[in-house]
Amino acid sequence: MDTTYLAEWANLLLRWLHLISGMAWIGASFYFMGLDQSLKPAKDGNPLIRGEQWAVHGGGFYHKQKFIAGPEKLPEKLHWSKWEAYWTWMSGFALFVLMYWFQASTYLIDPEVADLTPWEAIGISTAMLVAAWVMYDLLCRSRIGDDGQAMAIIGIIFLAVSSYIATSVFSGRGAYLQVGAMIGTIMAANVLMVIIPGQKKMVAAVAAGTPIDPKWGGWGKQRSVHNNYVTLPIIFLMISPHYPMFWQHPKAWLLLVAMALAGALVRQFFNLRHQGITLWDMWLAGAVVVAVVAVGIAPPKPPAVHGEAPRFAAVDAIMQARCVECHQPRPTNPAFAAAPKGVQLHTPARIQRQAQSWAAQVRTEAMPPNNSTGITAAERAQLLAWVAGGARRD
Ligand code: HEC
Repeated sequence: MDTTYLAEWANLLLRWLHLISGMAWIGASFYFMGLDQSLKPAKDGNPLIRGEQWAVHGGGFYHKQKFIAGPEKLPEKLHWSKWEAYWTWMSGFALFVLMYWFQASTYLIDPEVADLTPWEAIGISTAMLVAAWVMYDLLCRSRIGDDGQAMAIIGIIFLAVSSYIATSVFSGRGAYLQVGAMIGTIMAANVLMVIIPGQKKMVAAVAAGTPIDPKWGGWGKQRSVHNNYVTLPIIFLMISPHYPMFWQHPKAWLLLVAMALAGALVRQFFNLRHQGITLWDMWLAGAVVVAVVAVGIAPPKPPAVHGEAPRFAAVDAIMQARCVECHQPRPTNPAFAAAPKGVQLHTPARIQRQAQSWAAQVRTEAMPPNNSTGITAAERAQLLAWVAGGARRD
């Protein structure tokens, strides 16, 4: 079996696993944040119980109680939430390596942004992943870490700087995924390096009957709150490869920050709502940011067709020269075993039928990837003029 075909399977299986474990992780994050925020003082006055919640779900009633200083005796079976996080990171990182590192010249490098060799790109990508965690972790451990508002502001600046750097060295698409990988790494490292070790200390103290130091739980709470605010932004980044209108834009870094901010605001709306505080302006602020982005990046009117629209023969010739090495059932480009995304553009009928969809890719310059086949501006204009003129084949 050839390696491109095997890589396709690795890609599918890793992506499948990544989505499943990511849903389990973020689902647990939503669940516990919501639970924490809706806890009510315990009715039976047990001083060990910080709060409790009654819920009905799946045909039964549940009674959840939070023991902030631990129960008197350690229960026989204690459920931990950590493998969702670890599997999400492992599968995501493996997928990132498979696509953005092994195929760096297709996905991570854009010679028009920076003419890097694959090893240089991988080196920068690694350095940014490590630096993000080290700097964030030091900040959390410093005095500033206790100030939620200061951390929110620093977080936005940190994101802006990271995405500015990433978009100055990588392809737009690669930059968005790089920033997503940095946030994901911080989230998973929070679980592995801080939340779980703190909880292990708590469990050991309960088992030994010694008092729990509140700071152990405090560390974990701080990091899970941070993780919670970036859940919506990171999902945006993970689906962003489908939307070149963001990362092909000259201000791609700013759009990233704006969309992340919108996600965090909406998340905050839900955090407060679970506490019984409904601030619609918080939700509205997120929606306004998205609306401003949408208006700001709206594409200009398609170029006016002067005189006759280009003939189909000219369009077909451009397609054959610039697109078909990848977009045919058996691509001649060795990086692909099958037409990417199933998009085939090797016959006149297919070119015509899919005119609107490929025009969007040509207009935003998402295709050809990093202009690997060297399409010219004049050829782009011709393709778009043909589509604007009614995409006729006569
Ligand atoms: C070097 C290979 C290559 C070349 C050349 C190429 N493409 Fe693509 N194309 C891809 C890949 C890879 C994807 C899938 C991108 C992804 O993973 O989102 C793709 C996706 C697409 C899609 C689907 C986008 C989506 O997300 O639904 C369209 C449409 C498209 N290409 C059109 C074109 C056109 C038009 C040209 C020529 C102007 C072209 N491509 C040239 C590799 C190529």
